[in-house]
Amino acid sequence: MEIIAFLLPFVLLGSLVVFIAFSGGPGKAREAYLTSGNSAFKLGVPLAFLVLGIGVPGLVMANRGEAEGGTGSLRSASLTTEDAEGKRLFRERCSSCHSLAAVNARGVTGPNLDRIGEVTPQRVRNAIRVGGTGEKRMPAGLVDGPEAEKVANYVFKVAGR
Ligand code: HEC
Repeated sequence: MEIIAFLLPFVLLGSLVVFIAFSGGPGKAREAYLTSGNSAFKLGVPLAFLVLGIGVPGLVMANRGEAEGGTGSLRSASLTTEDAEGKRLFRERCSSCHSLAAVNARGVTGPNLDRIGEVTPQRVRNAIRVGGTGEKRMPAGLVDGPEAEKVANYVFKVAGR
């Protein structure tokens, strides 16, 4: 709301300048405004500038916070290419057993990774290396090297959100 209030004077001033310019100078503008009997036009011009001048920047600003804060679905937009690769690998090698909302995975053999408490990259890396917690219920080494790293970082970023 403060933003709109802040913008309002500038928009009004801008509209005035544009109106004058389009009418061919201050004298003509006055004449045009006063003599055009069409009141829809008189109202319409300022109104159009108001909508464009406030509505558009207002919307852009309102949405910016969401993009930066990284909440909701927009958060996936900030994933790096590494993360995208991690996501792809997760789909391929892990989603058959694990649920993870971020990739829409609905596996039930293993625990839901959104619900296992704090997830750190180390924890995921370790699970990949030893196979879960080492009880041989999850195969070890499904991915390794840099791929394991990408999966671990990806799961760390998205699990539980
Ligand atoms: C064949 C099914 C299966 C696949 C595929 C699988 N998991 Fe698991 N996972 C399990 C099971 C079962 C457990 C729980 C048993 C345990 O903790 O040892 C588990 C546990 C885990 C845990 C929790 C460990 C902890 O610290 O509590 C993590 C993290 C995990 N898996 C990540 C992954 C990742 C990442 C992949 C893909 C590379 C993957 N899993 C693929 C079955 C699977």
